[in-house]
Amino acid sequence: MRKNSFRLVAAASAIALAITGCSSSKNDAANTDSQFEIFTWWASGGEAAGLKAMTDLYQAQNPNTEFINAAVAGGAGVNAKAVLVSRIEAGDAPDSFQAHAGKEVVASYAAQGKLEDLTSLYSSEGWDKVFPADLIKQITLDGKIYSVPVNIHRANVLWWNPGTAAKAGITAAPTTLDEMFTDLDKFKKAGVKTPMVLAGGEGSWAMAHLLDYVLLASMGADKFEGLFTGATSWTGPEVAAAIKNYQRLLSYGDKGKNSYGWGEAGAAITKGTGGFFIMGDWASAQWQNEGSKLGTDYTFAAAPGTVGLYQWLSDTFTLPVGAKHRNAALTWLKLCGSKEGQDAFNPLKGSISARTDSDLTKYDAYLQAAAADWGKDRLVGSTVHGVNADNTFMSAMNAALGKYVTGGAKDNAGLAKDLAAAAAAK
Ligand code: GAL
Repeated sequence: MRKNSFRLVAAASAIALAITGCSSSKNDAANTDSQFEIFTWWASGGEAAGLKAMTDLYQAQNPNTEFINAAVAGGAGVNAKAVLVSRIEAGDAPDSFQAHAGKEVVASYAAQGKLEDLTSLYSSEGWDKVFPADLIKQITLDGKIYSVPVNIHRANVLWWNPGTAAKAGITAAPTTLDEMFTDLDKFKKAGVKTPMVLAGGEGSWAMAHLLDYVLLASMGADKFEGLFTGATSWTGPEVAAAIKNYQRLLSYGDKGKNSYGWGEAGAAITKGTGGFFIMGDWASAQWQNEGSKLGTDYTFAAAPGTVGLYQWLSDTFTLPVGAKHRNAALTWLKLCGSKEGQDAFNPLKGSISARTDSDLTKYDAYLQAAAADWGKDRLVGSTVHGVNADNTFMSAMNAALGKYVTGGAKDNAGLAKDLAAAAAAK
């Protein structure tokens, strides 16, 4: 994805929608459904708090519709996605489910005939003018738009505790991988228990998340994007060098051989027992939900080696084919896409609005900084959170990382081979 392309709002697709005149009959019925079931993996902490802000609004606006929250816990949807597939196969689709913009929506669900076409909502709700055109492209298949983005998260964020850093003599954020290694040595020397905080639990997705960042930091955006077009080989020197950096990073933690989920692992930052943590910006919402303070208990920077790059992902909501409460779901989707809904949800979820007209005064200093970077950085997709590859690739990537970590993080060539096999199977 080229620099700034997401901010080129809508021109082409807005015109296309106007010409096809999809403003619809089918998608504008009033909600008379008695129930509405929504499916996510936002089951606790900051994630559940964000969701609740929006579901509270929904319930206030739809008092006669019973709200059913079918969340399945597990970061990045590792557990939820498996449950979802079996529900869909059993003809028991929820009324709306969470899915990431990019290959996840398009290849894993839309291309499989699992989703209804939502294109008409984009003209009737004016979304063709307020969602970036390139974001809409990421949820479009054969000219039809299949989901509603509710946010933009950033995956490549470095988090640390300013007090712990000061004790180790670290006064500025590292901007390169080399600077990060130097600082990790400083944390080590200062007796910080875990210089590099790693989350090895929850099906290894967080270890894959870290590798996704290290790949980008090590080879740069063009080569990284080439991994998903076939232009960069998974068994070539760039990936080998990245895995070496990754292996070195892991040596500052417990090599990832732990059973911590991202929330549990990240608590080492706010408690002051951890040095650096690389995690998506949902971590900030989680810490605030636990009572920690931005700037005092934790702070942030673009992850080293990726300054000027925004590794993005977007949570979106869908209308599955066969949803039992279709009108209730459409009402939900309209709220998801609205300014009111997004500005209630995102400040608590730790993400920025996917709309170009959000009210930034409602967002904290981290999110305001993220919004500024989103407006100027080069955008690069997240692999682990659905942009670059489908669910099959993600499961295979998680499994490859699980194997690497369990094997003591030694078999670098084996990891590259497993990733190449995952890419070949796409
Ligand atoms: C991502 C999701 C985020 C957050 C994160 C950790 O896949 O897009 O909203 O939930 O997982 O669970």
